[in-house]
Amino acid sequence: MATHSDLDNETVRTLLNRRSIRKFKDDPIDDDTRAVLETVAQRAASSQYLNDWSAIRVTDPELKAKFAEFGRQPYIAEAPLLYLFIIDEQRNARIAERKGVDTSSPDWWLTASYHFTQAQNDAVLALHAMETAAYSLGLGCVILGSVLNDVPGLIEACKLPKYTYPVLALAIGKPDQEPALKPRMPRSMQFFENEYPSDADAALEGLDEFDATVHQYYDLRNTDRPVDAFSEQIVKVSGQDTSSKPLLPNAEAQGFHLEK
Ligand SMILES: Cc1cc2nc3c(=O)[nH]c(=O)nc-3n(C[C@H](O)[C@H](O)[C@H](O)COP(=O)(O)O)c2cc1C
Repeated sequence: MATHSDLDNETVRTLLNRRSIRKFKDDPIDDDTRAVLETVAQRAASSQYLNDWSAIRVTDPELKAKFAEFGRQPYIAEAPLLYLFIIDEQRNARIAERKGVDTSSPDWWLTASYHFTQAQNDAVLALHAMETAAYSLGLGCVILGSVLNDVPGLIEACKLPKYTYPVLALAIGKPDQEPALKPRMPRSMQFFENEYPSDADAALEGLDEFDATVHQYYDLRNTDRPVDAFSEQIVKVSGQDTSSKPLLPNAEAQGFHLEK
């Protein structure tokens, strides 16, 4: 049987200590570190071994500034290492075409919703592997969904071809801040046994205390006051109009057929 000390290893400690880092030292990341991070990302699992993701290394300062503009977050431009992870069926289309497959035929399925979502899963797993490896090497990261504020702009800026689609960006660097760990809800609110609880309200036991704990957390982006209680955040975000960020037309313009 595992002893307590077996369960407290470096990997677990790295994962339990992870927090988003949004301020980086100027120090560049050396090529060997970069190679390790990229190789680790490639080692992540891949649905049906399609390897249908890629990542764009954003090194051009002007492009970094553009990413910061898309994300409306100036610190993106300061990231020593910045990646955009993308769904990539373009490579597989090329490979299939070399084997004589007609990728414009309705019988070519890699543009359908199933593969789109599985490729998105692949990209996220690869990004997360890279993120964890970076923390284990003493670096810090922030995942950036904000760059998707302007998907067409991002597609144009990175010249993303047909059958590709942006998923998330990841900024990496030496931490120049020490944010507190952001609280997480009681495990009982998020892990269920065999089925979803029939009494959804009973599953919220501990919410009041969690709300109070979250309300004591300070986000270093705004240290004037603690963040809103968790319940308040849910209410606020669920009322924010996201209609300017639709998936279907953007995905269709990139050659995907998500109705399939
Ligand atoms: C899919 C995804 C998108 C995110 N996008 C952003 C972002 O655009 N900008 C940002 O500053 N943080 C972003 N984050 C980080 C979250 O805000 C952060 O993980 C969350 O508040 C919990 O804080 P912690 O990571 O410090 O525990 C994102 C996280 C995820 C998983």
